[in-house]
Amino acid sequence: MDVKNILIIGANSAIAKATARLYAQENCRLFLLGRDTAALAQQQQDLLIRGASEVNIAPLDVTHFALHEAAIDQALDLFGQIDLALICHGSLPDQIRCQDDFDAALEAFNINALSVISLLTHLSARMMAQRHGCLAVITSVAGDRGRQSNYVYGAAKGMVSRYLQGLRGRLFPHNVHVVDIRPGFVDTPMTAHLPKGALWASPEQIAQAVVNGVAKRRHTVYAPAFWRFIMLIVRCIPEFMFKRLKF
Ligand SMILES: NC(=O)c1ccc[n+]([C@@H]2O[C@H](COP(=O)([O-])OP(=O)(O)OC[C@H]3O[C@@H](n4cnc5c(N)ncnc54)[C@H](OP(=O)(O)O)[C@@H]3O)[C@@H](O)[C@H]2O)c1
Repeated sequence: MDVKNILIIGANSAIAKATARLYAQENCRLFLLGRDTAALAQQQQDLLIRGASEVNIAPLDVTHFALHEAAIDQALDLFGQIDLALICHGSLPDQIRCQDDFDAALEAFNINALSVISLLTHLSARMMAQRHGCLAVITSVAGDRGRQSNYVYGAAKGMVSRYLQGLRGRLFPHNVHVVDIRPGFVDTPMTAHLPKGALWASPEQIAQAVVNGVAKRRHTVYAPAFWRFIMLIVRCIPEFMFKRLKF
């Protein structure tokens, strides 16, 4: 797929930054939305040096749902048409806190699920009208099955994956493609506090999987690819055994 005009939401995420660098090398035009505008401005300079033909930035806290439509219209005003919208923001909530305090769970759902669905609602309407485009969303392998140690995050990501599946079918006749990118463990600021091991990947590895998945119009991208087999096994474990697993 030919990608030139790219909107990145949650653009300060480590995975988003690594992906933006790859698209900069392809001389794409980029519009970066994120919370920290000073960090966005730094990234803007870096991406221009790396070859991006144009980089614009704007602030967006994704929990301010009322600002979503205007942010997407700003991208359309800049680009004329959006070829690719990549949604990257997320948070890894404290499971123990979320299971005892609904406000914490709600915050996790707002960041990881409902904000994404709100953004997709506006983006899909615009892309249907232009009869062209690709929506790519970073979800997680955690969404494939609810583990007792991480099920609030898993439920939020799983909600988005299921939403994307339906949206993909709805947008298919309108020439709009939907890619669900499901990383495993990635060494980023979000997971800085966790011990690392053999299954861990770098943001650069995930970025390459995003670019390939979009170019090849994949539906679901496990990143790295071996997670497809791990999650196949995890999904096959019978529930009477799975409920006893402390992971
Ligand atoms: N790291 C992993 O192991 C892993 C695995 C599977 C999936 N993922 C997913 O990958 C995506 C990227 O995360 P990452 O690993 O690259 O971590 P990261 O570097 O910590 O990025 C997370 C980003 O989300 C942004 N964010 C959080 N709340 C926000 C809000 N209310 N409004 C706007 N932006 C907000 C943060 O903004 P600030 O920079 O302003 O804090 C940060 O840039 C996330 O969707 C995450 O769930 C990560």
